[in-house]
This record gives sequence, C-alpha cells and structure tokens, in this order.
Amino acid sequence: MKKKKEMQLALQMVSGYGAEFSAWRMPGTDPEAYTNMDSYVERAKLAEKGKFQMIFIADTPALTVDLGPQTPSFPMDPMLALMAVARETKHIGLVATLSTTFNYPYNIARQFKALDVISRGRVGWNAVTTSEPLASANFGEQVASRKERYDKAHESIQIVQSLWGSWETDAWTLDVKGGKFADMDKIQPINLEGQYYASRGPLPIPPSEQGQPVIFQAGGGEEGLEMAGRYASGVYANPYDIESAREHRQALRLSAARYGRNPDDIKMYTGFMFSLGSTEEEALERRRQLMSFNPEEIPSRVRYLGFMVGLPLSVNALDIDQPLAPDLLKNAYANPRDPRSSIALKLLKLGLSIRDVLAHGVINYHPVVAGTPVQVADFLEEWFLAEACDGFSVVPDIAYDGVADFVEQVVPILQDRGLFHREYEGKTLRENMGVPYQYGRLK
Ligand SMILES: Cc1cc2nc3c(=O)[nH]c(=O)nc-3n(C[C@H](O)[C@H](O)[C@H](O)COP(=O)(O)O)c2cc1C
Repeated sequence: MKKKKEMQLALQMVSGYGAEFSAWRMPGTDPEAYTNMDSYVERAKLAEKGKFQMIFIADTPALTVDLGPQTPSFPMDPMLALMAVARETKHIGLVATLSTTFNYPYNIARQFKALDVISRGRVGWNAVTTSEPLASANFGEQVASRKERYDKAHESIQIVQSLWGSWETDAWTLDVKGGKFADMDKIQPINLEGQYYASRGPLPIPPSEQGQPVIFQAGGGEEGLEMAGRYASGVYANPYDIESAREHRQALRLSAARYGRNPDDIKMYTGFMFSLGSTEEEALERRRQLMSFNPEEIPSRVRYLGFMVGLPLSVNALDIDQPLAPDLLKNAYANPRDPRSSIALKLLKLGLSIRDVLAHGVINYHPVVAGTPVQVADFLEEWFLAEACDGFSVVPDIAYDGVADFVEQVVPILQDRGLFHREYEGKTLRENMGVPYQYGRLK
C-alpha cells in the first residue's frame, strides 16, 4: 500500500525566546536565553523528541530592531548555535541562513560542509540574497540591484556546490598502514570564475554522510523562483492564505520541472505561529498578557487594524475592550492591500473586542492560531491537505514552554490523523526530507 503523504515540520529558532518580541518577559523564560546555548539545545532536543525534520534559523547580518523593548530577531550566530545543537542531538536537521551577498562562497562552503560532516549529514543552507539596507551598511555597501544580488547568488551557489564536490566520494582513504591519509588524485581544484566570485578549490573537507548540505531558498519574485527551481530542495515561504500558498508552491514545482527536476524534490515550508491553551480563551489570555508588556504599541496596531478593514480606528475614540459598533462595522471591508485583512474582518464581525482581534495575531508576520491543540492541528491539516505546502516552519509565541507543548499536545494529534511521521525515515536530512542525493554541482 502506498504510504499516505505526510507533512514535515521545522522548528524556527529565532533568538531563543519565541516569535513574540515580548516573550523574554514572560514568567518562566530565561531572560538570557539569547546567549545561553543550553536553551537552544534543550529546545532542539524537544523538537527531536517530537520527530521534527529540522531546526530552521533565519538570519540577517544586522541589528534590525530596537533593543529597548525587543529582543534580537536572530541568534548571535546561527552556525555557532547549530554547532552547539549538533553535538547534543542525533537525528534532527540543522538549517541556517547565510547571505550570498555578503559572504565569499569559499567561506560558506567550508562552514556548512564542516557542520554537515560534524553532524553526520544533517545540515541545510538557506541561501538568501538579503535586501536589508542595515545589513548592506555593515559591509560598507548600499543595497545592490536585484539583478546583481541574484547574479551573485547563482555564482555563489554554483561555486559552493562545486567546492562541496571537490573530493571524489572515495578520496578519503585513511590508510593508516600505507600512510595515505587521502588520495590527492581524487581531490581536485574546481577553478570557477564568475563576474563577482571565483574560487580555485578544492575544499579540505571530505564528503558527509549525505554527500553535502541540502540547499534551501527564501526570496521573492521571478528571480527567487528561478533560484529555487534550479538549486533548492527546500523553500521557506511566508504566505498568509491557502490560495497564495498553493500558487507559490505550484510555481516552485513548475520552476523545478523547468530545470529538469522532479517537482516532488522541492518542498515548501510555510511559516506558522501558534499560542496554545487548553481552551481558546486560555490561549488568547496568553497573548493578551504578551501584548500588555508593550502598551505603547497598541495605538499604532489599532490604527493599522483600521487600515486593514477600511476604517479610521483610533484608541482615542474607541474602547478597545469592546467590539466595533455595528454602525462602524457595516462600512468595513477587507483591504486588498493586505492579505491578512479578511481574517481581521471576520474576527471583528464575530463580535470580538479590538484587543482580542489583535491578540489573535492578525498583524503578525505569519498566520497565527491562538487556540487548543486540536485547533492548531486542524489548521495545519487544512493547509496541508489543500496542497498549500509540504510542511511548516513553526514558531511558538514563547519558546520556553511553547515547544514542549507543541510536541506533547499537537504532534500526537497529527500522528493519529496519519499526517505526520512517528519515526525518522533515515539518518540524514536529505533522507528525512525525502529529497535525492546530490554531490557537487548539478550539471
Ligand atoms: C520568506 C522569506 C524569508 C526570508 N528570510 C531571510 C533571511 O533570513 N535573511 C535575509 O537576509 N533575507 C531573507 N529574506 C530576504 C531575501 O533574501 C530577499 O532579500 C528578499 O526576498 C527581497 O528581495 P527579493 O524580493 O529581490 O528576493 C527572506 C525572504 C522571504 C520571502
């Protein structure tokens, strides 16, 4: 019997606290989680217990937030955080983001390959072009044109993959008696030269148990689709609704096919946030508490909610603990300029207070479910069965208890419904993602 298709799960690590920027202030959270690698390791072990396929770390090389009220958006250094995790875990994949714009391909190839070897074949590289001006400024540059960023990305990935394949698979002889550590005839320069990057090679690192790291991609537009279709086995995406997610996934699959690949070999992971409670009210209360840490944020959020539903909403003119008055609500509409608007409007029409509509996460970066484990599982099932994605990159509101709760309460529901595996399929990230072996550059 053919095995039913199952979703995959990635745990997004952020900076150690969770998705919500006030999570660091929640009772129970270690305020130093950002610098405490034990907390990363603990979370990763929990995710491994829950059979998550991978940990995923986004990254931009810049301080992008106001550290007054907020925690950083990324770990101190994703590769070092994953190194700590690699030593303490056995199965879970380790995926980090590194920009093709600000790193020499040789350095990328070396770091990722070394971690892949150390972790026995569990590593992925999320290749991004980075359009954040603060990041450019850190390298003494301005944001380059999209064309230049993507031209560089193609060169970077091709050089990195060639360096990864610069040892023949049996080059590491380790012949102790004969005194031959490796066979230099099988370790050759790559001699690649592009417009922006060049590398002679070879890399002084042997193949890993999955050959080489898995390529991921996150980025927009036609250029992003092309990059994903040519090289990526995994794509990190952030759609807000099933329809646009389906379109994006379909476009990725077509792009892979255009480059002679099997569309099933490219997996799309959708960003998703959750707040769990034993009732919906309990989950919402958790989010109300998170919001209460930053009351100064509320006026601008209410204003933005107004923009989403076409009404001039203001904290000065409204009691945000009340539902919108019917005479206001009758003129509301879902602003097509923000794909999250229809959810905001739906909740307002259900008669929720403005505070609770905000607490549902309608202005968050990813879709949010604040509810029971069954409600979270229902959401994931609906998207997955609609073929809106191959898996999810999940971010708990608050990491310190959110990961454990998801693993203990949501994963078993998904498993009982036949939507998520109960055991790792293989030893390497490639095997656990169900993507083919690759060594070196695709010809
Ligand atoms: C879902 C998603 C996730 C991204 N994650 C990162 C990231 O972690 N680090 C980064 O520097 N850029 C990230 N990017 C930005 C891309 O690298 C790129 O700069 C951005 O998509 C804008 O440029 P583009 O539309 O020309 O690709 C991400 C983009 C998307 C769509």
